[in-house]
Amino acid sequence: MTLNWDNPLAAPVPRTNGYQPTFSLDEVFVEEPTVEVDESELSAKTQVAIKSPAESATFATTVTEAASHRAVEAAPTVSPTRQPSAPEPFKPQQPISSADKRVINGSGDINQLAPFKYPWAWEFFLNANKNHWTPLDINMAQDVHDYHHNLSPAERHVYENVLAYLTTSDILAMRNIGLAVMEKMTAPELQIYQARQVYEEALHTWTYQHCIETIGLDQVEIYNRYRVVPEINAKIQLANRRLNDALRHDIDLKNRDDLHSFVMSYTFFAGIFEGCWFYNGFSPIFALQRRGMMKGTGEQFQYIMRDEVLHASFGIRVVRQIMQEENVTLDPQAVRDMWDEAEAAEINYSKYILPTPILGYSQQDHHEQFRFIANRRARQLGMAEPFPGAQNALPWLDEQSNMRKEKNFFETRVTEYQTGGALKWD
Ligand SMILES: [Fe+2]
Ligand SMILES: [Fe+2]
Repeated sequence: MTLNWDNPLAAPVPRTNGYQPTFSLDEVFVEEPTVEVDESELSAKTQVAIKSPAESATFATTVTEAASHRAVEAAPTVSPTRQPSAPEPFKPQQPISSADKRVINGSGDINQLAPFKYPWAWEFFLNANKNHWTPLDINMAQDVHDYHHNLSPAERHVYENVLAYLTTSDILAMRNIGLAVMEKMTAPELQIYQARQVYEEALHTWTYQHCIETIGLDQVEIYNRYRVVPEINAKIQLANRRLNDALRHDIDLKNRDDLHSFVMSYTFFAGIFEGCWFYNGFSPIFALQRRGMMKGTGEQFQYIMRDEVLHASFGIRVVRQIMQEENVTLDPQAVRDMWDEAEAAEINYSKYILPTPILGYSQQDHHEQFRFIANRRARQLGMAEPFPGAQNALPWLDEQSNMRKEKNFFETRVTEYQTGGALKWD
């Protein structure tokens, strides 16, 4: 049976087995059968919904005939027609002014891009598109050799656990922006950058998966590690708890308490989750890369880090804009608790991934760098430094990813990016 891809709805000519479907096209293309189908039958149910009658019939007779037949039998319970409401007569509307726009609680037209009120958001989108790559662009052959022949057990431990943490974190980041944050924005130029960010988080997940596959790690074990390692799990659970405050669909951003929760959640996401935990999270791999090992993974992470710097900078700018427009002042004790919680989780995580130092990188380096970067994010957020006196324990970290001009990203344009190909720093 061959599907006609030019016209997938056309019934293909059945093979010579003589089977003729006894139901019509309309019966098969039901919207949603009101029957429960278990997991093993789910794919069959989907197939019935999207395939032609003859294709479905073939599938049913060879795999799960009962499931597809139950789906078809359920068709009469679905309302066959739903009349659209009548269109309203056209009335010219007032032009949109940029003054109508706000980050949240705005009254502009979410489908109308210009006039811009936040041209910097559009610039973020344009710049993000200059850092386009896929993990397939980067040669991982030497990494395969390094992992199996050159890394010490302690270095393999670091490598695997950094991947295990990042894989879960980036899916969480994708869901937070796509499901919790983006829908609350009321200016399209903000949503457009966030749409790009959602894609980039998915691309990052692909990158980790590509590293795991090419190195030949046990996928099931790596992906389940955050479930069984308390120090990794604690960071994910902390992030889940903080971000769930913004994931509530009943949140009312005109309510001051809800608004405070949302701003706290977004502050955690941009300032800590992306701005510290991701930014500093790559550094153990960069330490290996600086010694000439796992260079492919290092380069992959440099591309990701460029994205994450933009994500953190954008998020911080949005938070500040909301606080200004909505006249929000964050509770100082709540902010202090947020930093302390994040630091405690990071200390435990760093002790787990680095029970003993590797050459050029220690648990103390990781912890101190977290405190140093946290101060930077706090300054960008317009807040007091949470860890005064913290030292730049990894002075090569910004340079490693050519982010020495990071502070410029906050207010000005990124000019160093390029599209695809090998990275050129400076
Ligand atoms: Fe990411
Ligand atoms: Fe991100």
